[in-house]
Amino acid sequence: MAKKDQTGSAKRQMQTIVVNNRKGGVGKTMLATHLAWFLAEGDRPVLFVDLDAQGNGSRTLAAAAHGGVASELFDPETTLALTAAPGITVLSSDERLDIVDLDDVPAMVKAMDSLRSQFAYCVIDTPPTWGALNFAALTVCDHLVAPIEMKDYALDGVEHLLKAIQAAEQKGRGGRKINFLGLLASRFNSHSPREKENFAQIVHAMGKSMIFNGVLAQRDGYEEAVAEGVPVWTLKKRAAVLAGQEMRFVLEQIRDRMDGLPAKEII
Ligand SMILES: Nc1ncnc2c1ncn2[C@@H]1O[C@H](COP(=O)(O)OP(=O)(O)O)[C@@H](O)[C@H]1O
Ligand SMILES: [Mg+2]
Repeated sequence: MAKKDQTGSAKRQMQTIVVNNRKGGVGKTMLATHLAWFLAEGDRPVLFVDLDAQGNGSRTLAAAAHGGVASELFDPETTLALTAAPGITVLSSDERLDIVDLDDVPAMVKAMDSLRSQFAYCVIDTPPTWGALNFAALTVCDHLVAPIEMKDYALDGVEHLLKAIQAAEQKGRGGRKINFLGLLASRFNSHSPREKENFAQIVHAMGKSMIFNGVLAQRDGYEEAVAEGVPVWTLKKRAAVLAGQEMRFVLEQIRDRMDGLPAKEII
C-alpha cells in the first residue's frame, strides 16, 4: 500500500525504465515514446528524459509539457525545479549532452533522486553510442527493456548489453541489480525465415524468460505515428490499427513486469 502524504494523496515513488541497446535504428525511440504515452494514460505524471542528442524522442513528444533540457540533470549547479503535471513532461535533448562525461554521473543520480516523489514513471531514451550517457541511464534506472532486431549477429549485441548491465551494477550502483525486463524483437519481419531462426536461437541461448512473447513487427503505421507525434493506436488506418494492438500488448507486458507481476505473457 502506498504511503499517504499530508494532503492525503498517495506518495509517489517514481519507477524509472530505460530503453537501451547500443545499436541505432532498432526502434528504441519508437518504443520509448509509446511507453511514455501508455504509462501516462489516466493522467499519471510521466517524465521522459531524452539522452540522445539526435532528439528524435523530443520531436515526437513535442506536444507534451516541456520541463527543460536533459543536460541540466548532469549539472550540479542547476536545481531542477520540476513540478509534475498530469501526463508527459519532457526533458528534451540538447547539444550539451555531447560533453557529458563520467564525472557528471553523480549529479544525475542526485537529480533523478530529487524527482522520485514527483512522477509515477520516468522513461529514459538512450543514444546508440556507448559512453557516459548510457552509463548514467543504467546507473539510475530501476528497469530496462532492450528492443533488438533479429538480423544477423543479434546475439553479439545482447552479450554487449549484458556486460554493460553488469558494469553499471558493479561500478555505478554498488551491486544493486537492474530489473532486466527482457529483450523485445523489434522491426521484426515474420516472413523472413532468417529472422525467425535468429529469434529461436536467441530464445535457446538466453532462455525463454528473457524474451517477450509479443513482437513489434516492421509496419508503416509506426513510422507514421512517430512522424505525426501521436501514439500508433490513435491512427485509423487498418495497418495502424494492427500496429496499435500489437504495441499495446507489448506495453501491457512491460508495465506488468515493472509492477512485479508474474511473467505470464513471456514465452
Ligand atoms: N516496428 C517498426 N516498423 C516500422 N518502422 C519502425 C519500427 N520501429 C521503428 N521504426 C522506424 O525506424 C526508424 C528508427 O527507429 P528509432 O526508434 O528512431 O530507432 P533508435 O531509437 O533505436 O535509433 C524511425 O524512422 C522509426 O520511425
Ligand atoms: Mg533513438
